[in-house]
Amino acid sequence: MPPPLGLFTVFLAWTAGAWATDHDLPFMEYLDVERLVCLKWGFADMQGNITFQLAVNTTGWVGFGLSPQGGMDDADIVMGGLGPTGSYFSDYHSPEEGWPLMDEDQSYTLLSMIENDGQTIMTFQRSIKNCDEKDFQITAEPIKLIYAYGTSDDIRYHGSLRGTKEVNLLNHKTRTTPPDITVPANKTYYHCKVMKLPELPTKHHIYQVEPEIENHDVVHHMLLYHCPSFVKQPYDKGCYMGDIGDACFGVVASWGVGGGTYELPENTGIPIGGVDSGRFYRLEIHYNNPQKKEGIIDSSGLRLYYTDQLRQHDVGILTTGVFPVSRMPYKIPPEAPQFHTYGICNTFFYFHPQLVNPIPDLQVFSVLLHTHLAGRKVRVGHFREGKQIDFLGVNENYDFDMQEIVNLGSIKTVKPDDEIIVECTYSTADRTEATLMGLSTTDEMCLAFLFYYPAIDITSCTSRPNSSLLLDTIDE
Ligand SMILES: *[C@@H]1O[C@H](CO)[C@@H](O)[C@H](O)[C@H]1NC(C)=O
Ligand SMILES: *[C@@H]1O[C@H](CO)[C@@H](O)[C@H](O)[C@H]1NC(C)=O
Ligand SMILES: *[C@@H]1O[C@H](CO)[C@@H](O)[C@H](O)[C@H]1NC(C)=O
Ligand SMILES: *[C@@H]1O[C@H](CO)[C@@H](O)[C@H](O)[C@H]1NC(C)=O
Repeated sequence: MPPPLGLFTVFLAWTAGAWATDHDLPFMEYLDVERLVCLKWGFADMQGNITFQLAVNTTGWVGFGLSPQGGMDDADIVMGGLGPTGSYFSDYHSPEEGWPLMDEDQSYTLLSMIENDGQTIMTFQRSIKNCDEKDFQITAEPIKLIYAYGTSDDIRYHGSLRGTKEVNLLNHKTRTTPPDITVPANKTYYHCKVMKLPELPTKHHIYQVEPEIENHDVVHHMLLYHCPSFVKQPYDKGCYMGDIGDACFGVVASWGVGGGTYELPENTGIPIGGVDSGRFYRLEIHYNNPQKKEGIIDSSGLRLYYTDQLRQHDVGILTTGVFPVSRMPYKIPPEAPQFHTYGICNTFFYFHPQLVNPIPDLQVFSVLLHTHLAGRKVRVGHFREGKQIDFLGVNENYDFDMQEIVNLGSIKTVKPDDEIIVECTYSTADRTEATLMGLSTTDEMCLAFLFYYPAIDITSCTSRPNSSLLLDTIDE
């Protein structure tokens, strides 16, 4: 649940591309079907200002308003333009009948008025909560927006150049960039968007991750990773093609087919901003298009909710299992009803050489298990002093199509020097060719992402099969 409006909580949507074009105006809607009237808007927090930018294909006057019923009656209106004597702009209120009257208290501020290429672009702001009783109260509900414009700067009756559209300004679900990924007609495609977080001067906590899936039939899973500091350029292309962003491997958030909105425990949050500010992130979207459909356009992403009211603990996410790499020379034989693979996280060898500070106990509260199509079971064993003491996750009926972050029934403590073994069981009974460990959906993976607190500086603790024991090499 988003926090109630009464709390002083930053409530921002951070979705793939929301800030790719305009950081301050991430939302956009055409208010008319001809796409001549375009509204962009944005706000920093619920208690502050909302900024609008109205772009209309006219050199005449333009008007925009918030209306209780969708008509002029009782509407809160601004009108302006760029005329022969410069720009004009005012806040109006329309009575039950008749021409809008200029408000005594002008509660909108004009930020800029531009005419460019036959288009008038009016940028203005007001506070979300308004004291002027003549002004419409903006809430996180769908609101009827009205627009009108003229062909000259003489503000007169607008004739047919008017319309209305209902939009939820404060809880908007679509984003500025047009649908931007053309899913190739390939069975498996990993798309990577490397992007920068909006500048957050202080540390914030992500407390909820909500998937926004456009094409449910092909979007298979999404992972958000943060990048090492040498990644400095955004880009948008296929993953694992030798680009610098392939080095971004610290999972921050994940979603898999069948999963829903994920909420973190009350006392925890995933840290972003502050020293991390300016960090780049990589959103990896795995498309599974077995029918090799052509021309699918997709703009799915993850919406992250974050707050500056820090919770008690920073969450870390630790990748365990078999090191994920393209085309590992390790083959699962065909026609095997059960084949086991495992990856070991030996926290002693992994953590001690890398960490300067003493290692705290890690409190594991959620786990996401991940294999591909041949996966049937995944078990995450927890070992101390060579003995198994518990499981951190078990799925005896693993289903590729139902991957979800699962909250553990109780918080489990991983102590320094414990071992975590991720064991995956595959069935290749229906396959005639060997299966590789690799990145494609028809290859296999064996991973468990552990969500825990307090966060340490290590993101991955995996192992590879002993390559001197691998008899076969890849012959393709
Ligand atoms: C909010 O808008 C008002 C009026 O438009 C302006 O005076 C004020 O400086 C703005 N506040 C911020 C934080 O931008
Ligand atoms: C509106 O004007 C813009 C800027 O000149 C132009 O790119 C766009 O194609 C116009 N839209 C329509 C529907 O004519
Ligand atoms: C799609 O498949 C074709 C043929 O196998 C291959 O050449 C191409 O690189 C693939 N495209 C992507 C984006 O993976
Ligand atoms: C890999 O296997 C070889 C042959 O059994 C063995 O000598 C070597 O110690 C193993 N390496 C590791 C890291 O376990």
